[in-house]
Amino acid sequence: MRSIVITSGKGGVGKTTVTASLGRMLAFEGFRVVMIDADVGLNNLDVVTGVERRVVYDIGDVLAGRCRAFQALVQDSESNARILPSSRESAAQTAQAFRSVVDSLSEFDFALIDCPAGIEHGFHRAVSAADEAIVVATAAASSIRDADKVANLLKSYRLRDISLVVNRVRPDLVRRGETLSASEIGSLLRLPPIGVIPDDDRIQVRQQLGSMSRGGAAERAFELLAQNVAEGRKEFHDITLKRGFLRFKRVNID
Ligand SMILES: Nc1ncnc2c1ncn2[C@@H]1O[C@H](COP(=O)(O)OP(=O)(O)OP(=O)(O)O)[C@@H](O)[C@H]1O
Ligand SMILES: [Mg+2]
Repeated sequence: MRSIVITSGKGGVGKTTVTASLGRMLAFEGFRVVMIDADVGLNNLDVVTGVERRVVYDIGDVLAGRCRAFQALVQDSESNARILPSSRESAAQTAQAFRSVVDSLSEFDFALIDCPAGIEHGFHRAVSAADEAIVVATAAASSIRDADKVANLLKSYRLRDISLVVNRVRPDLVRRGETLSASEIGSLLRLPPIGVIPDDDRIQVRQQLGSMSRGGAAERAFELLAQNVAEGRKEFHDITLKRGFLRFKRVNID
């Protein structure tokens, strides 16, 4: 099993969105995927994947010995992926106990861990359970600054790989030089971008229904990200604007 934590430092940049969409794409490709909500007390992976009302047990019940981890899993509303919901109440959970729950799900090909915002205990708990990390950042200065802090912190963990997903990209602003491109953000953070996700209102609208945006550039962007993750490939497709349409252009990372 590959366990990958999706983290950012800053809140609201798209960790849960990337976790859910990447998890679904990997599941569509036939991988066995479990998505784990490590945001204790502020759970929302269950909402974003449309399973909120089907949740019976959560990770708090697993840790308290009220059920086994596999009994707490809920099937995603759109794919074969499974979700392990986080406790709805804030509770003290040690990093070691959390890791043992993740390790007990080793029959899956991928465990995607949705990290809480911040760099406190919740961050430590989520990262300690992972072997790889994906840092999510947007072009906002505050996001890049926090991603930089997180990238430095991640180096003190024994992670096999740390890569970057640039979210909410606006190719129109990039072209006018009003915002940084994904490559520039990658160079600043010294992390290889493996996914570039457009800023697209439909992501938010569909998410409120527990669904993902299908058939457009956002879906294609997540598909390309999933291929890179599955194959461990270090290349990415930047988003450009051609005659008003979004296009993906392959960039090799050296
Ligand atoms: N590429 C995108 N285009 C448009 N909206 C987006 C995009 N990515 C995320 N969003 C929206 O931004 C909001 C925050 O996203 P999300 O919940 O994934 O962030 P987060 O990093 O998990 O936040 P938190 O730190 O609170 O856990 C959501 O409403 C989501 O729909
Ligand atoms: Mg979140």
